[in-house]
Amino acid sequence: MTPEINLKSPAFRADPYPTYARLRKESPVVVIKHPIFGKAYYLTRYTDVVSSFTDPRLVNDRRNAVGGKDPMDHWWVPRLFRIFQRNMLSSDAPDHRRQRDLVHKAFTPRRVDEMKQAVEKIVGELLDAAQKKQSVDLIADFALPLPLTVISEMMGVPEEDRLTFHRQMGGLLDNLTGPVGFLLQTPNAFSMMHFFRKLIGLRRAEPRDDLLTALVQAEEQGDRLSEDELISMIFLLLLAGHETTVNLIGNGTLALLQHPEQLQKLREHPELIGSAVEELLRYGNPVEQPSPRFAKEEIHLDGHVIPQGATVLPLLASANRDESAFENADRLDITRKPNRHVAFGLGAHYCLGAPLARLEGTIALQHLVRRFPDMKLAVPEEKLRWRGSVGLRGLKALPLLLSPSGAQATAREAA
Ligand code: HEM
Repeated sequence: MTPEINLKSPAFRADPYPTYARLRKESPVVVIKHPIFGKAYYLTRYTDVVSSFTDPRLVNDRRNAVGGKDPMDHWWVPRLFRIFQRNMLSSDAPDHRRQRDLVHKAFTPRRVDEMKQAVEKIVGELLDAAQKKQSVDLIADFALPLPLTVISEMMGVPEEDRLTFHRQMGGLLDNLTGPVGFLLQTPNAFSMMHFFRKLIGLRRAEPRDDLLTALVQAEEQGDRLSEDELISMIFLLLLAGHETTVNLIGNGTLALLQHPEQLQKLREHPELIGSAVEELLRYGNPVEQPSPRFAKEEIHLDGHVIPQGATVLPLLASANRDESAFENADRLDITRKPNRHVAFGLGAHYCLGAPLARLEGTIALQHLVRRFPDMKLAVPEEKLRWRGSVGLRGLKALPLLLSPSGAQATAREAA
């Protein structure tokens, strides 16, 4: 029941799917060491992953499962990491609902739809700049700056600070493993805390029409948001707002390049972009694992026992490739219907930013495919490197040749 799998090894990061297929076949639950949470019970199959999101025996706040002990409660975890981590994702009702209600209005499909023009403008500018180069790194030049700009504008983060906080968050995501990892990332975490406090101070002194001001005001009103919660909310929104969508665009573009016939179909039928984005979410798994759940009581699953207090991780990326839920699950099919993927999770913690991610992914991929019909990989596929985070699934870089016909495509588009 304990296969030796190193979730952070470059080989596993490069292609986890054959391992997931084997695990699904062998057992619905496997014990694997998680780099932060230690021993964890991983759910491998679609039906169990789906049920886990609404299972009342599983909670997101470990203190509600085993009484008082925080999952970050190790002597080597500095307090500020615990502050970042204690956000709506690691809360249960009623705390969870209170925190989510404070921000959910900014992310409803209607509010997000109003951002369409702004997103199209950012996409257009980024692709204009990309077109001037012979080759680009799609991640650094397009997939990252788009969601980073959008969430920063929503929150009110000054332009000059955006890349800095992205690098600091990336450092945390990719390198937090055991005492040494935490030690090495402590300066990053301190700088981030300093930055958040500076932003809060600025909005207190000078309120604006942005999400940050709304959150600062909620904290000032007393019982709606504590100071620690305000900081961890800013951390969560900035992180989830860009470190996920970058992977939808990056992994999605790679998947299309790996399946030229699907890319061709999308070029010929741009109206398929909606189902293409859903399929790229399923196939590419921008979020490989959600935040951990904790067992309030002993759970029996197909003859296996998950002990009370255990850390449980529903493997989204495995569920999304489960043959029992998706025909030819390892094949990309941009016309797939129905497509009940779990890329955004399910239940009370269902992704708050799903409408925004869909909007950004749709506009980004639509324009990229239209403007650069002959784009191709600039390096052999084996040279691509994946990031070290086990929760998120994303490329370090995606070097592409955008080919001269990009210019012709723009001319065609303009005509
Ligand atoms: C393709 C892009 C995205 C993917 C695949 C994704 C995926 C997910 C998943 C799987 C969850 C559930 C985690 C769990 O149950 O433990 C989640 C939650 C969340 N997501 Fe996203 N996300 C994306 C984009 C965004 C964006 C753009 C935002 C904007 C701020 C966002 C904000 C959040 C928040 C705040 C939560 C926590 C919700 C809660 O606990 O109630 N996400 N996301």
